[in-house]
Amino acid sequence: MTNQPDRIIIFDTTLRDGEQSPGASLNVDEKLNIARALAKLGVDIIEAGFPHASQGDFYAVQRIAETVGTEHGPTICGLARATLKDIKSAGEALKPAFKSRIHTFLATSDIHLKYKLKKTRADVLAIVPEMVAYAKTFTDDVEFSPEDAGRSDPEFLYQVLELAIAAGATTVNIPDTVGYTTPSEYGAIIKGIKDNVPNIDKAIISVHGHNDLGLAVANFLEAVKNGARQLECTINGIGERAGNAALEELVMALHVRRQYFNPFLGRDVNSTEPLTNIDTKQIYKTSRLVSSLTGMIVQPNKAIVGANAFAHESGIHQDGVLKNRLTYEIMDAESIGLTANQIVLGKLSGRNAFRTRLVELGFELSEEDLNKAFLRFKEVADKKREITDWDLEAIVNDEIQQAPELFRLELVQVSCGDHSAPTATITIRTPEGQELKDASVGTGPVDAIYKAINRVVNIPNELIEYSVKSVTAGIDAMGEVTIRLKHENKTYSGYAANTDVIVASARAYISALNRLYVAIEAKKEADLVIN
Ligand code: KIV
Ligand code: ZN
Repeated sequence: MTNQPDRIIIFDTTLRDGEQSPGASLNVDEKLNIARALAKLGVDIIEAGFPHASQGDFYAVQRIAETVGTEHGPTICGLARATLKDIKSAGEALKPAFKSRIHTFLATSDIHLKYKLKKTRADVLAIVPEMVAYAKTFTDDVEFSPEDAGRSDPEFLYQVLELAIAAGATTVNIPDTVGYTTPSEYGAIIKGIKDNVPNIDKAIISVHGHNDLGLAVANFLEAVKNGARQLECTINGIGERAGNAALEELVMALHVRRQYFNPFLGRDVNSTEPLTNIDTKQIYKTSRLVSSLTGMIVQPNKAIVGANAFAHESGIHQDGVLKNRLTYEIMDAESIGLTANQIVLGKLSGRNAFRTRLVELGFELSEEDLNKAFLRFKEVADKKREITDWDLEAIVNDEIQQAPELFRLELVQVSCGDHSAPTATITIRTPEGQELKDASVGTGPVDAIYKAINRVVNIPNELIEYSVKSVTAGIDAMGEVTIRLKHENKTYSGYAANTDVIVASARAYISALNRLYVAIEAKKEADLVIN
């Protein structure tokens, strides 16, 4: 029996490896929002988390399995080290999913075995089949990853993979854990596996790689040419260190260069069948959602989803594009869902028009969230005559997808100018319901606000990133503020959008502090259980 699909399977790990990016941690509602967007995007598998890592992770995987892992939805996957406890947690968290997968891993490189695991190669050869077989007792769909495969001895790798497949692994994933390999080396590893693992036709070869040398996407494409059929990737390429291979880059490379890749999948060179199941028109929206929820800003020159990806600045390019788009454009902005920035709504637009446009944009809100978002829309429309799709997106991201409002900003006022010391006054409602007022001067208005907020909230932290960006052009544009702060070596992000950037700055800071507060309270609770 051969297990090779005639297309490329997209395995999204934004919610697992992506969430391991510093400061990208998400709460359950935010994870659910992203999981829904990924399902709409058409990914085949969502790696929803690492259930044994914490109670929060377990619960998030379970909720995603329940709500997104439906009959026609994607497969929901949970990560597990090759241990009984990890695999059991994953199996239990995934129970509600219609299609579930356990992804278990154990390192195979000598450097990991010697220094990290303190295990021998013989240990690995014993553990892998046992743990794969145990995972099979929870689901038929089991993936095995030899961690740090990119630096493992190929002959040992073949042995481990053969045992994993014999024990029932239906996918074998080949991680370049440290982003060390080059495209031709990585392609050769995949070819070596195809040629030397006797039962490889019973499993799908998957690739997973980090971007430390900026080569992850190139490596994957070379792997596809050599037989890989599953790509593990994240939206905007977020992930550990320099991140993972970016989903949007892989998908668009396979889409735009379909004729080049067709023969490697045994297709006619001119076949117009898509190579993936992804609805490319959902790419831009999903990228924006992940960016605003994780606080991981997309660099303007980022391929596919960066603000400049479809902008032509030089006169020669603009002239060429006006004469014929194909002179300088290899893909259409609309193919990733980047529509013209239409003016869609205004002050007099009603709730129905608002809801209809949100649905068209792909936001399906509960009645309660819709009410909240509509009130915000009215507020914004009072200040800004024309509301575009991008404004609507910012309103929804700000109003609905916020960290729990434990500290709530009730009032912020600033006085500043070139002849006065910037002074901020704030009123904050605490999680206990107390209303506290304070004031502070600062080097600028934002510094004054943050100092005033710190006096009330009183959680030590270091602000490590502050960015303000306008949502649309025009003097009345909304401003989006993204911030990141550090507390005990962990990073927390906050996001807010408002026509007043001072208000957005204050709200973004409060939103990050709320995430930090939740983490502190969770740690206190965990310490209580341990003690
Ligand atoms: O990078 C890596 O090796 C991983 C494994 C758990 C697949 O993320
Ligand atoms: Zn990884």
